[in-house]
Amino acid sequence: MKGVILAGGLGTRLYPLTKITNKHLLPVYDRPMIYYPIQTLVNAGIEDIMVVTGGKKSGDFLSLLGNGKDFGLKHLNYTYQEGEGGIAEALGLAEHWAQGEPVAVVLGDNLIENNIVKAVADFRAAGKGAKIMLKEVADPERFGVAYMDGDRVEKIIEKPKNPESNLAVIGIYMYDGRVWDIIKTLKPSDRGELEITDVNNWYIQDGTMTAEVLQGWWTDAGTFDSLLSASKLVAQTGANKLD
Ligand code: DAU
Repeated sequence: MKGVILAGGLGTRLYPLTKITNKHLLPVYDRPMIYYPIQTLVNAGIEDIMVVTGGKKSGDFLSLLGNGKDFGLKHLNYTYQEGEGGIAEALGLAEHWAQGEPVAVVLGDNLIENNIVKAVADFRAAGKGAKIMLKEVADPERFGVAYMDGDRVEKIIEKPKNPESNLAVIGIYMYDGRVWDIIKTLKPSDRGELEITDVNNWYIQDGTMTAEVLQGWWTDAGTFDSLLSASKLVAQTGANKLD
């Protein structure tokens, strides 16, 4: 199974911090933001990794990460997203490299306290379909929100104005090899992006989506408040713990 880190986009919500650099290079406590999602994949035993970058200072990713030595890796792959066409568009750029294989995807601004070892093992054992991870939040209107029917996800709505559920879909996704063709069928949303929520709703319709609630804290770091609270969480408890 391969891993993809999505670190494109323009980071406009963090302007002017992102005026001259890429959001994922900003510090979260004692490390650049992108270190955390890479560690999430490496801790789950995924070592064949593609970093999708874009926007400003994309060359700095190479200077910072090199071949992934800080993570015990021998090699890292990189690709470049022009503009900000959405999370699903960014993922689609990894298609030629993935060669039809299943992938675990982590958004470059998502940090977790613990690990996804069990979720990845469960997904591998299923052998087909997709898996998302959920977390109860106080501000679901900021995220993709999962509407449940018991343990089953009924649908996901991207940033609903009046959410009827407080279960956010976090930025860690696992997909089988069909994802590459699904991305090609997507149409841009009202915000002009190819939405990962549309990919997830495809798998829900197909009846092959599973969901697990993440243990431990999760945060994005894409707004001033979440960037600050991410640093505090890492300082207080540490991130990417293995047990
Ligand atoms: O953090 C989890 C949330 O991430 C999910 O709950 C939402 O369903 C999902 O749409 C996403 O929401 P955001 O609006 O917060 O995503 P944002 O535009 O901030 O992008 C998150 C990361 O995805 C960003 O750090 C880099 C990557 N990205 C994003 C875009 C739009 C790209 O690589 N390319 C892009 O074009």
